Amino acid sequence: MTLSYSHIYFHLLLFLLLHHLPPCSATAGHWSLLLPTIGITAMHMQLLPNDRIVIFDRTDFGPSNISLPDGKCRFDRNDTALQLDCTAHSVEYDVADNSVRPLTVLTDVWCSSGALAPDGSLVQTGGFNDGDHVVRVYKSCDKCDWQEIAFGLIQRRWYATSHILPDGRQIIIGGRRQFNYEFYPKHSQTDKAHSLPFLVQTYDHQIENNLYPFVFLHTDGNLFIFANNRAILFDYSRNQVIKTYPQVPGGDPRSYPSTGSAVLLPLRIVQGIVAAVEVLVCGGAPKGAHLNAKNGKFDGALDTCGRIKISDPDPEWVTETMPSGRVMGDMLLLPNVDVLLINGGSSGTAGWENGRGPVLEPVIYKPDRPIGSRFELQNPSTIPRMYHSTAVLVRDGRVLVGGSNPHKCYNFTNVLYPTELSLEAFSPSYLDPTSYGLRPKILSPVTRIQYGKWVTIQFTVQNQLDPNSVSVTMVAPSFNTHSFSMNQRLLVLEVSNATKVVGRRKYEVAVTGPPSGEIAPAGYYMVFVVHEKIPSEGVWIHVE
Ligand SMILES: *[C@@H]1O[C@H](CO)[C@@H](O)[C@H](O)[C@H]1NC(C)=O
Ligand SMILES: *[C@@H]1O[C@H](CO)[C@@H](O)[C@H](O)[C@H]1NC(C)=O
Ligand SMILES: *[C@@H]1O[C@H](CO)[C@@H](O)[C@H](O)[C@H]1NC(C)=O
Ligand SMILES: *[C@@H]1O[C@H](CO)[C@@H](O)[C@H](O)[C@H]1NC(C)=O
Repeated sequence: MTLSYSHIYFHLLLFLLLHHLPPCSATAGHWSLLLPTIGITAMHMQLLPNDRIVIFDRTDFGPSNISLPDGKCRFDRNDTALQLDCTAHSVEYDVADNSVRPLTVLTDVWCSSGALAPDGSLVQTGGFNDGDHVVRVYKSCDKCDWQEIAFGLIQRRWYATSHILPDGRQIIIGGRRQFNYEFYPKHSQTDKAHSLPFLVQTYDHQIENNLYPFVFLHTDGNLFIFANNRAILFDYSRNQVIKTYPQVPGGDPRSYPSTGSAVLLPLRIVQGIVAAVEVLVCGGAPKGAHLNAKNGKFDGALDTCGRIKISDPDPEWVTETMPSGRVMGDMLLLPNVDVLLINGGSSGTAGWENGRGPVLEPVIYKPDRPIGSRFELQNPSTIPRMYHSTAVLVRDGRVLVGGSNPHKCYNFTNVLYPTELSLEAFSPSYLDPTSYGLRPKILSPVTRIQYGKWVTIQFTVQNQLDPNSVSVTMVAPSFNTHSFSMNQRLLVLEVSNATKVVGRRKYEVAVTGPPSGEIAPAGYYMVFVVHEKIPSEGVWIHVE
């Protein structure tokens, strides 16, 4: 028998394929489907300090896929879709139990904002239509439900951003056709909204492009406010712009509907101060992309990030290139100080039917590596998470992903990217079983930490401990919607006494609480002991 050339060629090819595959870049992390449906599309998500996640979409989508509790119905003659509605538009997800229970929101919460108050209740602000001046409070317990404060806001807030402040109030900035900000709770009946000309200056009259501004509390007490393609440092107590940062190179928009995302990079406390405060803004859509998308032309998303040291006297943006373009992505701070980029599309913009090309692979960004080697591609999901998708970090280190509904209604058939009711989890590679031996386990949960005071944390590690690679991080649970996690903040605490051995494979590390409310506003945080980049499961701690 003779082998034909083609036969030999075939075997050669097979050999080459099997033995000389290019190094597979997407090998890290894994996905699991938690629930095929939670009954609603997860447009907004907030983790609470009892490991429940409050989730809501909007009340005027028509019926959802979950009934209101106890057979109740809601009559709202102002609802634009369904006035008598017996379905829920908010649920509470129990992380440990992997189950949901329906909650009752009465007025429209669509495209709203929020922050956890220092007592751990969610204070949600604004929405649409009959809900645009409403403040809603959700304090979790087994039977709790939403409470609504009809005229909690002075102005309508739709697509606004909230941020928690050192005094425990929140500031609510902007929103559609709102070039101003206000506070909640109010100091007095006579509290007013204050104008913010920066929101006029960054407003694009055709397509806005400055909604859901990226807002971070700088450690000097001012607010960093990014909208469209640039940012200011703002003293909200005196209504004064302290600094105007340069435009991001290229000048393309990064805010809604050209939705990119942004994080305040981990804050490292050394000798009581944070020496370098940096912001990273990634993705978005090029100029003109939103109008093009409305006309059926889907421009490729921006594949660049801008990083800026906002604490420098004269800072400049440094541009970095992601493995691919991404619009409507989410950026989350992981407990081991990596940054996760997840969700979104590769072309078009936010808005109904305006996005294309789901980006199924998350990317990890390693902020401390040299530029050019910071991005690592992760394993893909199979579920597109386009417009109105969300992502939150939970205490065990997983990232929960939900939502995506780029349609005006709940549309499950004959549409691109059907309304998605499922909840998935992405487990970064630090959760791989191979890291088990390195992973710390916290033994002595500390429940409170005071500004500038010590606490000691005891933990175990199965393998040999490297005392030089132990750190303690603290993450604020954020309010995620429209590709932005409001109030997201990660602190690397100052280790006061080096890790010491206190028993067989038992160790103790002493850390100092954050120095001030400007560095860490009072409230609940998740604390992690990190060893060789592998975080423990977190424990809830109250900063006070
Ligand atoms: C949601 O409900 C609709 C209408 O009742 C039904 O057609 C659809 O299959 C449901 N979808 C899911 C994912 O449960
Ligand atoms: C519905 O609209 C009417 C008239 O605009 C208003 O008086 C009423 O308060 C609204 N209802 C709710 C629940 O907001
Ligand atoms: C979604 O469903 C609604 C109501 O059934 C329908 O009017 C609308 O055309 C659908 N949207 C798309 C994009 O098919
Ligand atoms: C830190 O170390 C010093 C000196 O050994 C000791 O006096 C102090 O009690 C330690 N503090 C904590 C919180 O462990």
